[in-house]
Amino acid sequence: MGFIVGLTITWALLIQIEAAKWGYVNDRGPDHWADLFPDACSGSLQSPINIPTKQTVYDPMLKDFAIFFDPPSPGSKFFVHNNGHSIQVNTEGKFYVSNGGLDNIYSTAQFHFHWGHKAHHGSEHTIDGKPAPIEMHIVNWNSDKYNSIAEAAVEPAGLAVLGILFEISDIDNPILEPLVNVLKHVRDPDKQIKAEIPAVAMRTFLPRAPNMYYRYNGSLTTPGCFESVIWTVFYQKQTISRRQLHVFRQVLKPTHHRNKRSPHHESRAVRAVMEELGIEDNYIEKARFKRQLQDKAATETKDTTVVEASAQHEPSGTDTHSTSSTNHNVKSEPMTSSHADKVRNMLVNNYRPVQPLNGRIIYRSFPFFGEPIPAGGTEVIYLDIDGSEGQNNTASTLRDMSLLTTFCSILISKLL
Ligand SMILES: *[C@@H]1O[C@H](CO)[C@@H](O)[C@H](O)[C@H]1NC(C)=O
Ligand SMILES: *[C@@H]1O[C@H](CO)[C@@H](O)[C@H](O)[C@H]1NC(C)=O
Repeated sequence: MGFIVGLTITWALLIQIEAAKWGYVNDRGPDHWADLFPDACSGSLQSPINIPTKQTVYDPMLKDFAIFFDPPSPGSKFFVHNNGHSIQVNTEGKFYVSNGGLDNIYSTAQFHFHWGHKAHHGSEHTIDGKPAPIEMHIVNWNSDKYNSIAEAAVEPAGLAVLGILFEISDIDNPILEPLVNVLKHVRDPDKQIKAEIPAVAMRTFLPRAPNMYYRYNGSLTTPGCFESVIWTVFYQKQTISRRQLHVFRQVLKPTHHRNKRSPHHESRAVRAVMEELGIEDNYIEKARFKRQLQDKAATETKDTTVVEASAQHEPSGTDTHSTSSTNHNVKSEPMTSSHADKVRNMLVNNYRPVQPLNGRIIYRSFPFFGEPIPAGGTEVIYLDIDGSEGQNNTASTLRDMSLLTTFCSILISKLL
């Protein structure tokens, strides 16, 4: 029942979001989201927020996280794409997060980033009023309670998002390198290219002391801003080099032209929002939404001559800039030579400003500020599915879920 209601609400919101596209500037910017999407983005538990550290409250119940199936099985992949609002990396739902004050097990759907055009801004959360140049969000959904991320996304505590702020360092952060290296291939969202990188342990993205974090109840930071998120913002920062950050700042926005030219643009917009939520990762939901979209497209559009761009282009592995590549079905606009136009076309400052706390309490997992407590009983717990250590009911349930997901994905790929 809740499942159906959740789906209906999500679908209704997706239709709205499709009707009024959003962005980060001008009349589509964050100040207008509440008008563009009535019933969304105007609640009292919105994110991001500023974290006034001295007003946070120590909660001894906020223990370490447990991360399952970390590292991932050899050969598994992350899928990187530009969803028009962010660089998003889909993780295929093979990762699970629990403990850390969470009452349930959450399945990882995707992670993405928010960044600025200069180092003085870019993050969504701010610490004592201070933004970071870039922030990473790892989006997880409550797979104990709900059947899909679409259902979880509209329920309280349906999502658990881990926020990691970065600080600039002189040396490249090796954990970001595989991602940074493929950004040139996915920088133009109009080309709908997905790049694959080897999956790595999610734990490696977390700061050195993942047991030190802030916790509050909030929302998604993009429309429809569902107030379904248990937020974790880590106390420590990760690092990123200037060069790596510069590569993020070369990523492009979608062009308006793309949205006008194709009779498929509406379903594309819906798909973009689905991907924003990581819904694409959920094969059952994907099939369901796809069928609805197809029905909708069939009734609305008789003329379906435009071929959709394949989302499965493999990067060639050369250093060719993807903007100069022409072998894709969707033609890209010729780049104007004007520098100002180029800057306008860049996807930067894709962050929502901080929202009012409205009396919410921000908890923290550590009693005192300062250097991290030395490791020893404070490490993230690793559970190896094949190791006898982790072989208990929880672990085997997770394995059964994983097998089921694999089976469903094979089945659905045959059906579609
Ligand atoms: C979040 O909301 C739930 C339900 O209202 C509540 O039990 C929990 O304590 C809240 N958590 C925080 C960190 O405020
Ligand atoms: C089983 O796994 C869960 C998940 O991490 C863990 O919390 C629990 O302590 C484990 N139980 C046993 C008996 O090992």
